[in-house]
Amino acid sequence: MKVTVCGDYDELSLSAADTIEDLLRKKPAGVLGFAGGSTPVGLFRELIKRNEAGRVSFKKCKSFNLDEYVGLSPGNKQSYRYFMEKNLFSHIDIDKSNTFVPDGLASDMDAYCRWYERQIREAGGIDIQVLGLGSNGHIAFNEPGSAFDSRTRVQKLDDRTINDNARFFDSADEVPEFVVTMGIGTIMEAKKLLLLVNGPQKALMVKKCLETPPSEKYPASVIQNHPDATVILDRDAASLLGKK
Ligand code: GLP
Repeated sequence: MKVTVCGDYDELSLSAADTIEDLLRKKPAGVLGFAGGSTPVGLFRELIKRNEAGRVSFKKCKSFNLDEYVGLSPGNKQSYRYFMEKNLFSHIDIDKSNTFVPDGLASDMDAYCRWYERQIREAGGIDIQVLGLGSNGHIAFNEPGSAFDSRTRVQKLDDRTINDNARFFDSADEVPEFVVTMGIGTIMEAKKLLLLVNGPQKALMVKKCLETPPSEKYPASVIQNHPDATVILDRDAASLLGKK
């Protein structure tokens, strides 16, 4: 596991964009794994800039998102599909039919989750999976206690995650209780993991996930077991590393 500490959020976003640009230069038909949430928005902004400047093209890419709220339609402003369209897909040259975000309205979720995993496999697997960190240590929506070999499935959200994500909704009552998320086992099959974390409020969880032995109590700690994982932190998120 490689840990890079950046001065601030902008630097973190540039560093993440460099990693993706490097991949797409070598492999224009690369398969990208995207996360929702606030953390990757700066990375998305930078990718849009580089696409507009002709530095990078997504024409041949496929992308897979980590998660979606069960019960929200793609047109719902709180859905991750809507979020991805607004913050990235509608501004870059990616073919929309090559962008995959789990379907929160699938009628047979078990069959749908198997189908989603099959799409990833048939695309050749994910080359770079971008991850954010939940304040309880989750990656995607794999809440604490999720098995390290879990697959794409429906998961119930912890109260803490509902409260954290209430800021995107009118109230905590409106946050769906259930989500569909890639499993930890699914995520670990990506060729490279890129975990992005910023802000002082996540410093303690960063320390737990990177400096204690991997355990299901802190789902993101699993990335210590990945053969090619890079963690990019801003100075605040890294502030407790190496301290007692
Ligand atoms: C969200 C998402 C995750 C995200 C994480 C952190 O709930 N499901 O994919 O990485 O929690 O979110 P944020 O970046 O907004 O802090």
